Amino acid sequence: MLQNPLPRLDRDTSDIRQRLLPHCRLKQGEVWHDPEGKHLVACGDASDQSFLRELFGDSRAALAVQDPPYNLVAFETRSIEEYIAWSRVWVDNCHSILTDDSSLYVWLGADQNNHFQPLGQFITMMATSGFRSRSFITMRNQRGYGTQSNWMAVRQELLYYTLGHPFFQVQYTDIPKILRGYYKDIDGHRTENIQRGRSMNIRAGNVWVDLQQVFYRLQENVSGCYAQKPLRAIERIVLASTVEGDLVTDFFAGSGTTLLACERNHRRCITFDSDPIFTEITIRRLEQFRATGKTGWQSGNPFEHELCNASSALQSQTAPIATTTEVI
Ligand SMILES: C[S@@+](CC[C@H](N)C(=O)[O-])C[C@H]1O[C@@H](n2cnc3c(N)ncnc32)[C@H](O)[C@@H]1O
Repeated sequence: MLQNPLPRLDRDTSDIRQRLLPHCRLKQGEVWHDPEGKHLVACGDASDQSFLRELFGDSRAALAVQDPPYNLVAFETRSIEEYIAWSRVWVDNCHSILTDDSSLYVWLGADQNNHFQPLGQFITMMATSGFRSRSFITMRNQRGYGTQSNWMAVRQELLYYTLGHPFFQVQYTDIPKILRGYYKDIDGHRTENIQRGRSMNIRAGNVWVDLQQVFYRLQENVSGCYAQKPLRAIERIVLASTVEGDLVTDFFAGSGTTLLACERNHRRCITFDSDPIFTEITIRRLEQFRATGKTGWQSGNPFEHELCNASSALQSQTAPIATTTEVI
């Protein structure tokens, strides 16, 4: 349905969460097993080591894409010390479920009105985490925030770390290369730009200006989810750092972008979120994609059926929607 967006679901300011919770098939500690046997979606806390141990068992991931709350506007703001201590716990948990040769990407914000925290403190904390720092990527958001008296904030930071020597495949943008007039001498011969590269397009570097931020006019939009990442950004990460069949993980599923990127690119995914509403949205996003090929709900929402139809909403409260769930 068009023009039927949900408000931000992390802010419990309305009764909307209470109306949605009965339609969520996972409670804390429960796992949804993909009927096609590829993925797991769970409801749990990234800092809970025993939950992680049971969820992963002997499985190890080749890639973790992590998008934690940034301690800025989302959630109640903790002290920076508490936030970094919490981050260290989930980073250690993440280390424990990665393979010896693996990659970790972390999306993080920097509060320009408060000494750019938590970015600096997080980077310092990572120096003793066992991960090796590899790249500091900036993605450009088309719509920023700010005032007339400061530079508009349009950046989104993405940190890239590795363990061992993981797979890495160069990725290309859709931006055509400048083909002529850019010369370089190689072995005494003057070469044109096109002779030296493998693609007609520009390589993705550590500044991403070519990806579209998610907003309500895009099909992939999932209203109610804050800080939703562009599917193409997560697909770029997945394609760069894994091969088909690899296991990928995301401890902060949100709208389920990493799960969808894995499904579309033939990777397996174990993902979870501490909020049952976001785990339900994550499962529904995959189910909708499989049924229709759609990547989101644009300006509609994942609970339209229940919210718009009172009698069906009542039915859903009593009838299980789940395929297979188990408690861990
Ligand atoms: C920034 S959003 C993730 C957005 C996601 N990357 C996307 O594209 O939609 C952060 C998510 O982390 C979840 N979260 C917050 N604290 C958590 C915790 N301790 N463990 C697991 N998930 C948590 C929130 O419920 C929220 O859905």
